[in-house]
Parts: sequence; C-alpha cells; structure tokens
Amino acid sequence: MSDDLMTGTARIPGTLASRAAALDAQDQLAALRELFALDDGVVYLDGNSLGALPRHVPARMADVITREWGELRIRSWDESGWWTAPERIGDRIAPLVGAAPGRLVVGDSTSVNVFKALVGAVRLAGEDRDEIVVDATTFPTDGYIAASAARLTGKRLVAAAPGEVADAVGPRTAVALVNHVDYRTGRLHDLPGITAAVHAAGALAVWDLCHSAGALPVGLDAHGVDLAVGCTYKYLNGGPGAPAFLYVAERHQAGFDSPLPGWNSHADPFAMTPGYAAAEGAVRGRVGTPDILSMLALEAALDVWDGVPIEAVRAKSLALTDFFLECVEAYVPAGRVTSVTPEAHAERGSQVSLSCADAHAVMKELIARGVVGDLRRPDVLRFGFTPLYVSFADAERAARVLADVLADVPADMVTEVPADGATDVLSEPAG
Ligand SMILES: Cc1ncc(COP(=O)(O)O)c(C=O)c1O
Repeated sequence: MSDDLMTGTARIPGTLASRAAALDAQDQLAALRELFALDDGVVYLDGNSLGALPRHVPARMADVITREWGELRIRSWDESGWWTAPERIGDRIAPLVGAAPGRLVVGDSTSVNVFKALVGAVRLAGEDRDEIVVDATTFPTDGYIAASAARLTGKRLVAAAPGEVADAVGPRTAVALVNHVDYRTGRLHDLPGITAAVHAAGALAVWDLCHSAGALPVGLDAHGVDLAVGCTYKYLNGGPGAPAFLYVAERHQAGFDSPLPGWNSHADPFAMTPGYAAAEGAVRGRVGTPDILSMLALEAALDVWDGVPIEAVRAKSLALTDFFLECVEAYVPAGRVTSVTPEAHAERGSQVSLSCADAHAVMKELIARGVVGDLRRPDVLRFGFTPLYVSFADAERAARVLADVLADVPADMVTEVPADGATDVLSEPAG
C-alpha cells in the first residue's frame, strides 16, 4: 500500500512518514529507547521538563531501600558508598558537560546552587567590583536569587539579555549569570563568546545549564567557564526533584568560599569542630546530608549514558528538531503557529517552541491525543526532543496531530488559562 493511500490524503504525510521510518532505521541511538519506560501510544516531548524513567531504576531503588537502608542501615553511609555519592555522581555527569573529574558535585536544587555559585563568584571577584549582571530572559528562579544575592552582598543588579551581556559587562562587573538555553524559546546562547567577553571585562561567568546538560556538548573546561549549575531531572532523566550539580573550575576551587558552608563541606566533618575549615575540591560545594534516595536514583539513571557520546546526541537532536519543523511546515496551515526557536543550529537547543493562539486549548488537546508537550504562558507550545528516546516517527506524528488539533480548535477560540498550580497539568513545576 502506498503511503498516500495509507493516509488517504494528498498532503505530504506519507512522504514524511516514510522519511521518518528511514531516519529511524539509520538512527544509531534508536535502540536506547528500549531502556526507558514509555507507552507505545504516546509521543513524549516533555523530557525538557521531566525526563522519562529508565526501566532499570525501580529495581535499583528497591535494592537501595530494602537492602542498603532496610538491612545495612547506618552502615550504608560507608559500605554502600552513600557518603561519597555527591562527588562520585558529579564525576559521572562531568564528561557530559565537558568537565574533568573532581569539578562537579551533586546535591540540592538548581536554585540553591545558583545561590552558591553566584555569591561564591562575587567573593572570588573581589570587593571593588560592585555589579552582578543577570540574564534578562532568565528562568525566573535565577533572577530572584540574583536579586537576593545582590542585596546580601551589597552589589547592584544589572539585567541584560544574553546577546547584550558583552556590552553590559565592564570594570564594575563581578559576575554575569546566563542561561545556556532559553527555557521558553529553546534558543542556545553563545557560551564560548559570552564567557570570553565576560573574562575580557575581568569578571566571572556563571552558566545555568538546565536545558543543555545531556542535550548538547557544553565544554565547560574547554571554554574556561568559571562556575556552572544544572539540573538532572530533564535530559539526564534523574527523576522528579533529582539533585542538581555545581561546577567550579579547577582554578577557582581553592578560593571558592561557599555562602552555605555546611558540615558536609568541612575538611573533617566528623571532627565536629565549632570552626569551619573548607574541604578541598568539588566537595566544597556540598552543604548538608545528601538526599540519598534521589541521588541514587539519578546515579542509576545515568547508566543509560554508558558508551553514548554527547556529540551523537547533539547530532540526533538537531536532526529531530529540523525534521519536526519541516513536518510542522508541511502539515500545519500557514499562520497558525510561528516557531520562536531559531533555525540556525548554532542557536538551537533541543526543544522547539511554537507560538500559537489558544495555546492552552491546543496543548490540552494534544495531550489528550497522546502528544505530550507543555505550555509556557501566554502562547508558547513547547516540544522537547530527548534524543535517547524520541524517534523521528514521534516527531512526524506530533506535527501531524498538531495539525489535526489546530483544524479542530478554531483559530479565534478563546479559552481561560487557569492559574498556575499543581492541579493544572499544563503548568510545569520544573521548567
Ligand atoms: C533554566 C532553569 N534554571 C533553574 C531552574 C530551577 O531549578 P530547581 O527547581 O531545580 O531549583 C529551572 C527549572 O526548570 C530551569 O529550567
């Protein structure tokens, strides 16, 4: 049966569907999908918010809970390697973001690590620099924390879009905090160029890698990034609320003065001395008792990366997002959606964002029809492409269902957008 007969329509779907099948047949990462718990009938394009569950994680967690916790109890801090998990897992993530061992530590939320990194960078920059530059388009938490860090440290906060950071930094700048990929538009910012401009001004560059870690090569060491943070529940599939990571460049480790010097970052935690003496290396980024269950779920989840080069992930990510955009262009009537994600590969992360009237109604209907993306108010439909488990057939189906939904949701339909909250399936607690 020809593709056109199969679809029963003269529009291009058959061609694109067969192209998708051919692309999937050639895809060297295709077999990895089997490692994840996914439903056959659902296209999951929300891994940029919450990564899918690797199938082997529940068995590992059952062992952690029943044996390590249930039987070994306190002995597990040592015998099961719980105590050293934060830096051990940091070393597992390090190659994915281009860092040598000993530069990353895992623990706390991204928000908390933004605070550590920002205040730590201000202290490294020295007293005479009195400005903190923050990405004006940032995910909100970074902006809130930067404002608070500025008040605490007595600095002035300067907002600048990533493209303007090079002009905004100067002799007064202590640090610039920038998002690598914009959570809303999927725009990838020029990490090497912005870092170099910040350094030319004598300041430090702190990067938020939430939407790039596990999606594309970052090159932290190679590009001389000073400090960085990132979350592990998106493209690293660590599970809801999985602990974040903090990167401190080797040259700053000895001078890094954490604003949260808990007992876990003490050089000799069990000496229990009243005075604080900071540990050496990445451990200095730790605070208190690590959240072992989440941390070990993340550690197990990272097994799916064994032997998977991040460059191959990036190549598939770009091919997937290119193909999805092509399918949208072919299937969706002109004018119904506009991509706000850059076409240029050098400027694109691993998601496609489409602005669309009635985005709330459209996304609700997409989810009902088995295409799970999410919404950023007021009008952005977000589709995240996780190359480890999203196929070209998924991309084609998502675009086709989007066109069907748009045909059924009139362009001028007005829908009430609910307030954010846990009960709104379209709002995203972690975005
Ligand atoms: C770019 C970015 N930064 C920071 C955060 C906040 O992370 P957390 O909620 O883990 O503190 C998010 C959450 O999705 C994010 O997307």
